[in-house]
Amino acid sequence: MRLAVTGATGFVGGAVCRAAAAAGWPVTAFGRRAAADPEHIGGARYRSWDIAAGKLAEPPDVDAVVHCAASATDTGVAREVWRTNLLGTHHVLASFPGCRIVHVSSASVYDPYRPTVRAKEHEAPVSRYLNVYAAAKAAAEQLVRAVAREAIVLRPHAVYGTGDTTLLPRLLENVRGNRLLVPGNGTVLVSMTEVGSLARACLLAAAAETVPSGVFNIADSAPVTIDWAVRGLLASAGVPARPAYLPAGLLSPLARVFPGGRLNRYVISQFAMERSLDITAAIDRLGYEPAPTAFPPP
Ligand SMILES: NC(=O)c1ccc[n+]([C@@H]2O[C@H](COP(=O)([O-])OP(=O)(O)OC[C@H]3O[C@@H](n4cnc5c(N)ncnc54)[C@H](OP(=O)(O)O)[C@@H]3O)[C@@H](O)[C@H]2O)c1
Repeated sequence: MRLAVTGATGFVGGAVCRAAAAAGWPVTAFGRRAAADPEHIGGARYRSWDIAAGKLAEPPDVDAVVHCAASATDTGVAREVWRTNLLGTHHVLASFPGCRIVHVSSASVYDPYRPTVRAKEHEAPVSRYLNVYAAAKAAAEQLVRAVAREAIVLRPHAVYGTGDTTLLPRLLENVRGNRLLVPGNGTVLVSMTEVGSLARACLLAAAAETVPSGVFNIADSAPVTIDWAVRGLLASAGVPARPAYLPAGLLSPLARVFPGGRLNRYVISQFAMERSLDITAAIDRLGYEPAPTAFPPP
């Protein structure tokens, strides 16, 4: 299987490259930066490409593209997020016409205004979002499904593991002394996705002969409580802090006044409401084998 991977210099894309290399697949890795650490991308051939700027010149001949590149932030500048996540996806589709596209989307496409309870794939996209990241991810999914001849959309949630650039660093920003400020009360359930499991799901989607198209939630075998997850992530980072919960009812009015803050409405909706996913479709149709949530040791 000849693979192209966008976002290869990032957390998820790097894991996909390494998993593909371990499977013996030839990979062309793409990132925006000029050069990549060969170890991070599993020794793949590397090319620099800003997907927001335009189509790729002289694309390699591949069987599938795993599209991980994105502006993966809830506090990004709207124009940049749309350019990378939607226009960039358009350029990926235009650069690899006829190829199978494995599009790494996000569980952010589910309704942020109400709990996500063992959500099934048909429940998203919705008509309302709390930030441009989620809105652009939803729009990009729809574009991929409309344009690609073979489109497999994967929706992970709260991806964690070695090399995390997003979830753990974002949590650590809210550590004050020996306390981590967390919206809600810690008791709600959350589906987490281990990065190696997500990488394996990407390879299954790239190679699946009987599944040319579809949308699949990708997560660990069962949801965990926010409190368990937060304590586990802090321990895995070797940070001696404990969660201090802030009631969503108190935070929400503040978040309306300071919409771009760290504890914004999107963050509150992610921590104070259940965010669990039904992963039956991935297990039954892709052959995905989930593992229990477990955090790497420090
Ligand atoms: N991490 C999570 O918890 C999580 C959860 C759900 C979904 N996802 C999805 O998973 C995917 C990967 O996220 P991640 O956590 O791996 O993020 P990341 O570590 O921030 O990596 C983002 C990647 O996208 C590339 N990129 C950004 N803008 C680009 C542009 N204009 N042109 C080309 N490449 C560009 C970056 O390249 P450079 O670094 O070279 O600039 C980097 O390789 C995203 O689609 C994200 O929405 C992530």
